[in-house]
Amino acid sequence: MFLREHWYVAALASELESRPLSRQILGEHVAIYRTTGGEIVALADSCPHRGYPLSLGTVVGEQLVCGYHGFTFDCLGKCVSVPGQDRVPSRADVRRFPVVQQGPWVWIWMGRGEADPTALPVTPWLVDTEGWSSVAGVAKIDAPFHFLVDNLLDLSHETYLHNGSIGTPEVATTPIEVEVDDASNVVRVYRHMKSVDCPPFYSRTTGLVGKIDRWQDVEYFAPGFYLLNARIAPIGEPPLEDGSDDHAFHMKILYGLTPSTDDKVYDFWALARDFCVGDSEVDVFLEQMQTAVVQEDVDALNILQTRAEAVLEVSEVSIKIDRGGLAARRVLAAMADSLTPA
Ligand code: FES
Ligand SMILES: [Fe+2]
Repeated sequence: MFLREHWYVAALASELESRPLSRQILGEHVAIYRTTGGEIVALADSCPHRGYPLSLGTVVGEQLVCGYHGFTFDCLGKCVSVPGQDRVPSRADVRRFPVVQQGPWVWIWMGRGEADPTALPVTPWLVDTEGWSSVAGVAKIDAPFHFLVDNLLDLSHETYLHNGSIGTPEVATTPIEVEVDDASNVVRVYRHMKSVDCPPFYSRTTGLVGKIDRWQDVEYFAPGFYLLNARIAPIGEPPLEDGSDDHAFHMKILYGLTPSTDDKVYDFWALARDFCVGDSEVDVFLEQMQTAVVQEDVDALNILQTRAEAVLEVSEVSIKIDRGGLAARRVLAAMADSLTPA
């Protein structure tokens, strides 16, 4: 069962050209494209005529023309012309999904009800090009959505799975604090590391060498948005009392967790930083490094899924580091329960 009445990341803005993109989201096939005028449109990816994928059609101006027999649709999914006759059948429209672009990410509303603009996650760091620079990417994982939730809520795996890039021993050994906001379906996990080695991910970009103070403050907005607030600073220099923190480096590490099917999930990511703003070499370095980090997660989760399919029962032994992941599972279960009439 999918949690539909939420926003999910559907695509990278850079993936959208005049040629439609085919994507399966929450089990539904969607054709996403950019019109000649620049508007981003998402339509159900099935032509009402004979079911041909509209993603195989052609964008002509502000319209999408089916690649089989030419049924033509406007940006609202309304069929505006069919070949060989003047009258357009009244049932020839296709469903249009609301979409919103925020910087490199395009969000989609797959809910049955009206899209709720107030529920759209706020990601100003992806839009503010004055104070922040960002890079973004996407990977598809052949494992269920909840595997990715588990992965992201427990960053102690960085020490082992991402050793050499972002993992240092202290990520695994530093205790975490977990807070759950049941009313808002938010799980927060805090890990503040003091006087620890600076991993290459940050030493190569901030210029800091030797020991640093490193904070990882995770906010998981269930079900589809995850924000890791990373703070990297010289040791012993916390934020000032007035809240200013100009002597530290900050990175927002964002994930869009978008179920594709029951056993596949899209892992959208974006890194925004408030240092080396506008430095394209740092962009390239971070993009390459994060792509490699995400691939390590993808490989691990694919292996877990292969094992899960091979054995009838997977048993788990949870420990303290799992509290964030377990809290997220509980929040998601409660959200799913609330959909089911008692
Ligand atoms: S299937 Fe699209 S026009 Fe025939
Ligand atoms: Fe990871």
